[in-house]
Amino acid sequence: MAEKGEAKWLLAIETSCDETSAAVLDRGQIKSNIILSQDELHSPYGGVVPELASRQHLKSIDYIVSESLERAGVQLKDIDIFAVTQGPGLIGSLLIGLTFTKGLAYHFNKPLIGIDHLEAHLEAAFVENPDIEFPALALLVSGGHTSLYFLEKPLTYRLLGKTRDDAAGECLDKIAKFLDLGYPGGPIIEKLARNGDNQRFHFSLPKMKKPGYDFSFSGLKTAALKIIRENNLNREHPALSDFLSSFEEIVARSLLENVRRALTEFQPVSLILGGGVARNQRLRARFSQLAAENNLPAYVPSPRLCTDNAGMVGALAWKKYKMEETLKLDLELDAYPR
Ligand code: KG4
Ligand code: ZN
Repeated sequence: MAEKGEAKWLLAIETSCDETSAAVLDRGQIKSNIILSQDELHSPYGGVVPELASRQHLKSIDYIVSESLERAGVQLKDIDIFAVTQGPGLIGSLLIGLTFTKGLAYHFNKPLIGIDHLEAHLEAAFVENPDIEFPALALLVSGGHTSLYFLEKPLTYRLLGKTRDDAAGECLDKIAKFLDLGYPGGPIIEKLARNGDNQRFHFSLPKMKKPGYDFSFSGLKTAALKIIRENNLNREHPALSDFLSSFEEIVARSLLENVRRALTEFQPVSLILGGGVARNQRLRARFSQLAAENNLPAYVPSPRLCTDNAGMVGALAWKKYKMEETLKLDLELDAYPR
């Protein structure tokens, strides 16, 4: 088993939802980060079908791992540390990645590090900006999660609030599905909304009964469905772009409202954005704007590092290895869906 300090190559695997991904890192630097999306497979259903997702991971994982090794110019026997996403995610999908990685670590008798998917999304910002200063406030917006964290120091994640119902990405995906626009809805809505008037359709910001930093998107979704029905909106309708632009705007505004309030209470010195929805140009721009208004730096990962990818998983595993973990081959490591 590798002693601390002598490790070099790390292989990370991510299969928590509908991307099969493997990355190879050389002393914490990403050398390859291969992502195979299953969007086309799930598109006819307007959302991820869990059983199809796990079967597809099983078919692809071997090839994706080989490809990541080849691009990095290493062989499996060279890997010093294995890392894998443990959860949260779809249990069947997680188990494919976890079992596969466990098998490799066991065969080569090398350490295995289990990684939390949400912490990995937050780590994505550090890949390109390793010197982000603490304390930081981090907004995570994905298809399965919408949460706000306070990071007082590296590797500490205090959850300030999360969605009580739909995640922001899920809300975008559901509206796109209802309008029969395709899957995943977020990028499709972004494209169609591009030249729309974001003030044409009125939405109110969600109001939470209890004080705090939780989010809620089900009210916005219901309001959107009402507007769609009342105006007979469909994919051909001339007002579609204005509607989608107005909707995207309110989703971004309601996400940032909590960040704005938390800034006052927690006084962070950095702002971090992460998760698949962080690919959205409007959200990226509004987030950076909010940071600038408060004289704070905003760290938003490149789009490729926002959606699910093993690079962020490997980066976090390397940091854990360097900062705190004792290395071991933990074959008891289990997957957790939530
Ligand atoms: O982080 P991610 O890849 O998977 C989860 O962990 O959930 O996020 C996927 C979500 C989907 O809901 C998708 O619609 C959304 O990210 N998304 C976007 C964009 N690209 C992906 N939402 C808005 N604008 C985009 N450009
Ligand atoms: Zn994710």
